[in-house]
Amino acid sequence: MPDPEITNLYDIRDRALQKAHKEIFNYYATGAGVEQTLEDSVAAFKRFRLQPRIFRSDLNPDLSVSIQGHRIRVPFGIAPTAAHATAHPDGESATAKAAQGFGTIMIQSSMSQTTIEDVRRAAPNALLWMQTYFFKDRRHTLDIVRRAERQGFKAIVVTVDSPVLGLFSRASHYEDYIVSEEAKMRESPLQLKGLANLNISTPDVAKAKASGDEGLLQYSRDQIDQSQPKWKDVAWLKTITHLPIILKGIITAESAREAVAAGVQGIIVSAHGGRQLDGLQAPIEALPAILDAVRGSKVEVYMDGGIRSGRDVFKAIALGAKAVFMGRPIIWGLIHDGATGVRDVLQLVEKELSNTMSLCGCNKMSEVTRQLVAHESKLISKL
Ligand code: FNR
Repeated sequence: MPDPEITNLYDIRDRALQKAHKEIFNYYATGAGVEQTLEDSVAAFKRFRLQPRIFRSDLNPDLSVSIQGHRIRVPFGIAPTAAHATAHPDGESATAKAAQGFGTIMIQSSMSQTTIEDVRRAAPNALLWMQTYFFKDRRHTLDIVRRAERQGFKAIVVTVDSPVLGLFSRASHYEDYIVSEEAKMRESPLQLKGLANLNISTPDVAKAKASGDEGLLQYSRDQIDQSQPKWKDVAWLKTITHLPIILKGIITAESAREAVAAGVQGIIVSAHGGRQLDGLQAPIEALPAILDAVRGSKVEVYMDGGIRSGRDVFKAIALGAKAVFMGRPIIWGLIHDGATGVRDVLQLVEKELSNTMSLCGCNKMSEVTRQLVAHESKLISKL
């Protein structure tokens, strides 16, 4: 049973803070620039207020939804985040086991420390999607897609917000934990060892591997930083796989319209957890205009960024997201207690969502509609 003293996700974060090496906690917590987008992605949820309906609730609301034709128990899943073995020795296998046991989806990161094959071995029945980039050497992308197909992954998630890597500078949070990015990479006891999925046999990869974890990390960073992705790469991806293609990192209506025109099956409205371009709008506030832009198409719209409770999930669904994903809260669970900690995170958010549903008069997810939330700017203007 989860610890009764854990009443919200921040309790789990605090336990992770006590447990993790400070540089490791910092690696996951940090954002780009002055962390405006990182902070605002969380804060923006508070600007939406709930508008419940009365006398409608039955017991035990049904929280399940379908994404790309697959039913999941709750409308939230696990966002792709790098390096789970740095958070806990069981790494991505633990995360995948938790997703499988609970009944939701995990998106595996291409920057994971466990291979695609080992994640599948750990969780043979989990619903898994594979995240990739259009790497500088596109043969990595092809290899990852083929391996994910073989392991029964159900979609390819391409992260589109990283034509170069964002610039980190540690700002205000966790001040005791501040270290420079260079120091983090050099001195941390566990930092990003054993990136597992850039694994084609080329002389460059052999050389990177031979130079150890540092060399492999630098190689991986260069593969993203110098990749120059373009729309024609999406067209190429469509020719090499029949899996649904989901573009992650759309934050404007214009990009959403382009994604529809490119014929993808889904988009994840995301600011990369505030780790790429600082100064972006909070995803939850970008969501309505993006939904307007794709209306009439079959593209499913998901979002991530700043979700810290079941109430936040409810707000995103009410605004029109089909499902949402969590990044850092999953890492907190992983640091706290491996697969059990991730399960605790998922269960807590489920409990909060179920409670919010009942208090708002909703018995299933299709009843969670736009009139149940209002942005505070609209409420205040009516005073
Ligand atoms: C990420 N994210 C990310 N996204 C991606 O497409 N590929 C990746 O490898 C990573 N790696 C990564 C590492 C860490 C430490 C973090 C915190 C995030 C972004 C991630 O998928 C998601 O967009 C954000 O984490 C969502 O914001 P929250 O839930 O952390 O607020």
